[in-house]
Amino acid sequence: VKRVRTRHLIEAKERGEKWAMLTSYDQYTAALFDEAGIPALLIGDSAANNVYGYDTTLQVSVEELLPLVAAVARSTHRTLIVADLPFGSYEAGPAQALETAVRFMKAGAHAVKLEGGRRMAAQIRALTGAGIPVMGHIGFTPQSEHTLGGYRVQGRDAQAAEIEADAHAVAEAGAFAVVLEMVTSSVAAEITKQLPIPTVGIGAGSETDAQVLVWQDMAGLRRGKPPRFVKRYADLATVLQDAVKAYADEVRAGEFPAKEHGFE
Ligand code: KIV
Ligand code: NA
Repeated sequence: VKRVRTRHLIEAKERGEKWAMLTSYDQYTAALFDEAGIPALLIGDSAANNVYGYDTTLQVSVEELLPLVAAVARSTHRTLIVADLPFGSYEAGPAQALETAVRFMKAGAHAVKLEGGRRMAAQIRALTGAGIPVMGHIGFTPQSEHTLGGYRVQGRDAQAAEIEADAHAVAEAGAFAVVLEMVTSSVAAEITKQLPIPTVGIGAGSETDAQVLVWQDMAGLRRGKPPRFVKRYADLATVLQDAVKAYADEVRAGEFPAKEHGFE
């Protein structure tokens, strides 16, 4: 099996083929998603919430994400592995971004993602100049939720021009793709038309070149009401908890282990 390369994703855009991206943070999901033909997996800083139990992505560190990147890299053959640069690991400037990105590439990533448009152009240029493919991330950027004033849709009214300027800045700096998060569908559609690189939407409507979701959200492992942009394709929380209850019930009833599970 051939590895997906960034150019394959750009060629897919040229052919008008849409693709789906997911997060992954561990061996089993990585192998399953790879086998399912998902062309790109993101070890998101959303591991903060979905692996480590933090309240926000601001809290997760490079040291906590590196082993997850390595696990996903070891467990896949085909998918392109994108590692998120966490809050505090690239904002200081191109040198800091490069130092951090190199650590993720050495851990097995094939590309990195970082948040910010025009304000991160120098970082994106430094990384692509060093041979590290970069996925941009604009619109609602969770690492700056305190500046953006919480989880809010971006791109309404006068803001549309700002988001478009960010999209162009990211592409011109050399990014191979850009995530558009919680951007109005019309702005996302317009950016998708204008940019030569694929747009990856999350809460950005149906006109982007690709979509991305956090896997625990789309598979229903996370309980509670998901954000509006999530569709639940399974109810893994119930499946897993039912299995756990059945196991515990059988142990209490003396039904597990049965004869065939023991050794004579
Ligand atoms: O960390 C993450 O999971 C992300 C995607 C949802 C885009 O950045
Ligand atoms: Na992220």
